[in-house]
Amino acid sequence: MLKIKNIFLSLLLSIFTSFAFAAGEMHEPMHPDWSFQGPLGKFERAELQRGYQVYTEVCSSCHSMDLLSYRNLIQEGGPEFSEKQVKAMAAMFEVEAGPDADGEMFMRPAILSDKFVSPWKNEQEGRISNGGAYPPDLSVMVKARPGGADYLYSLLLGYEDETPEGITLDDGVYYNIYAKNQKIAMPQVIYEDGVEYTDGTAATEVQMARDVTAFLAWSAEPKLEERKRIGFKVIIYLIILSFLLYFTNKRIWKDTSH
Ligand code: HEC
Repeated sequence: MLKIKNIFLSLLLSIFTSFAFAAGEMHEPMHPDWSFQGPLGKFERAELQRGYQVYTEVCSSCHSMDLLSYRNLIQEGGPEFSEKQVKAMAAMFEVEAGPDADGEMFMRPAILSDKFVSPWKNEQEGRISNGGAYPPDLSVMVKARPGGADYLYSLLLGYEDETPEGITLDDGVYYNIYAKNQKIAMPQVIYEDGVEYTDGTAATEVQMARDVTAFLAWSAEPKLEERKRIGFKVIIYLIILSFLLYFTNKRIWKDTSH
């Protein structure tokens, strides 16, 4: 039953997605292989760790991730940094605290229980700094767009130097083949060697786009691995149960003539 429902749901979803792409407004995104795809898919720790680095060094100057706290980076199923590492990483950001004895608010380094520090005090500040377009929060972005990880990955790599004829771009709007109407108010941000990976991986554009997308796929569904693990156990259980029921049934009816 569960399977039929799932098949039905994914059919509906793919019809919906193909409508969105077929409407002519959007290009079908690229489909790279993701380690977290499929019924037994898992995140790769190193990939998530690199993805966090790309988010922090490249995206976090414009995009918040309000739903994450620094301690989430330690949890099982995620990047699984050590507590010591995350304490040091959090301490690089400052949060407002207080009031102190004089009633003044003050800044202190972030700790494990703090939410990811947002680049903006409020939405208005974010808009003003980006020509009116607010860089949306990225916590659950992979779930929020049709095409999910494939779309985000493609979007990050979809910038082209030449704008084709017939497309006019307003100030602060960029040509991107995977964006809606091929226009987006976010400039290209992924460039080769845009970060220097601490694990020594070569920071090509493809590598950076992959890593940060995997990181955002995890933040959108931090319990993915647990869900798949339980799902797998349930299926095994159901298979064993069906065998048992089958043979029990046979045995019970063995002496009865039909
Ligand atoms: C200079 C600021 C800036 C940086 C840096 C930046 N973005 Fe953006 N981003 C924006 C703005 C502005 C928008 C809103 C675009 C729009 O509405 O057209 C946006 C939109 C997006 C969207 C939503 C696209 C959609 O379908 O609506 C995604 C996803 C995204 N950015 C991902 C990233 C990632 C990942 C990084 C880091 C690798 C990043 N951004 C870095 C400014 C930025």
